[in-house]
Amino acid sequence: MRPNLTFDTEKIREQDRHWVHPWEDFKSLDHVERTIIAQSEGIYLHDTDGNRMIDGPAGMWCMNIGHGREEMAQAIAEQVMRMPYFSPWSLGNPPAAELGEKLAELTPGDLNHVFFTTGGSTAVDSALRFVMYLNNCLGRPEKKHILSRQDAYHGSTYLSASCSGKTRDKTNLDFETGFVHLLPSPNPYRRPEGMSVEDFCDAKVADLENRILELGADKVAAFIAEPIMASGGVIIPPPGYHKRCLAVCRKYDVLYIADEVVTAFGRLGHWFASESVFEVIPDIITSAKGITSGYMPLGAVFISDRLVKMLGAPEAEASMFANGFTYSGHPVAAAAALKNIEIMAREGIMEHVREIGPYFQQRLRELEEIPMVGEVRGEGLMACVECVSDRDSKEPMMLDYEIGKRIDAHCQENGLLVRPLINMCVMSPPLIINRPQIDEMVDILRAGIEQSQEDLQREGLWGG
Ligand SMILES: Cc1ncc(COP(=O)(O)O)c(C=O)c1O
Repeated sequence: MRPNLTFDTEKIREQDRHWVHPWEDFKSLDHVERTIIAQSEGIYLHDTDGNRMIDGPAGMWCMNIGHGREEMAQAIAEQVMRMPYFSPWSLGNPPAAELGEKLAELTPGDLNHVFFTTGGSTAVDSALRFVMYLNNCLGRPEKKHILSRQDAYHGSTYLSASCSGKTRDKTNLDFETGFVHLLPSPNPYRRPEGMSVEDFCDAKVADLENRILELGADKVAAFIAEPIMASGGVIIPPPGYHKRCLAVCRKYDVLYIADEVVTAFGRLGHWFASESVFEVIPDIITSAKGITSGYMPLGAVFISDRLVKMLGAPEAEASMFANGFTYSGHPVAAAAALKNIEIMAREGIMEHVREIGPYFQQRLRELEEIPMVGEVRGEGLMACVECVSDRDSKEPMMLDYEIGKRIDAHCQENGLLVRPLINMCVMSPPLIINRPQIDEMVDILRAGIEQSQEDLQREGLWGG
């Protein structure tokens, strides 16, 4: 148990006004009343007013082994005292080297090389730059186009954000549109009325193939896809979709990049979901978050031996991959990742998620009884509750209803932090969650949704 510290919430909120947060709303900067999380242990968070809440989103899909692990603190502190940092440019360090070898054991297929970054966005950015570099070295500089999907989220650098397709994130920012193309979302819930899931899958695979043919296969470099589209609302593409998309990519010599920033390191009960869950071995995998369970910032790009060999071949133009970060292979982050992986393996976290995931999904699906809930979907320990104005038309509940925010507010009062996404609530708790805690979580969520539905009814905004 953590020491029970006391905090002055109002003072911290005043200090916090200097901090421009991610996805900041500048219009509400002066009056926003953020919850301030000050302490945490296991799956629980404590705010500065002493309220205890379940960490529904596991921080930001990352606190996989849970909060307050002494062993992590020790591993981090020991590495800080031994050697906190040195340049990764042409020099090595023991934890990053050991981590590289360990990760090669865990990745699927021949993805035995790793490029370390500072997080998920820089991993995606580096993966895309690597693909461009590869094609330049191979003497095909026109093979540059990148295909992604609506509803995808790949990060917040210029290039990774350009490959992201969440409509709301596109306002008042600029993006690369010349060589990045967004195909329609593979969300089966929003497939055309009367279309079967199988036909929808055919249509999504055809989207990909047709766009490659339209642009010219000699011009398309890569297709990037999340195994499950996390921030887009836990969208699980139709069965067989990834395998068939990979086959299309292979047919036209287009690289397949799996963005496993959320799905790797246990969220779906496996170190990586690509092969174990979706039966695909990508050319490149990006990851971050769960690699250290959020204890230190770290990202990674896994590159296949096949691609690395191509660059070493005599016909490839010799040059350096001039891409990297001061903190690539940071020794303290690497030490945290090694300890995190050791804990996950020792405690059987993968097995635990495979065992408890179906229970989590089954309990959450009970929420479909609530009239305002259009769909509950998910896999492993990630799920989304989507609210709609009308179940038959599946009309999403509009932004002005602030339904996600309302549900989050009610849930926080009752002891659960959820991640609101417009009309959706995303749940991805720490992977150590047990059955009674899942029950507690779902009960609070149910009450929060029901209370929000009552609010809307009272305000005349929703009629059932
Ligand atoms: C699939 C995916 N890719 C990339 C990113 C970006 O990662 P980061 O926020 O660590 O830069 C995220 C973040 O949520 C993500 O969900």
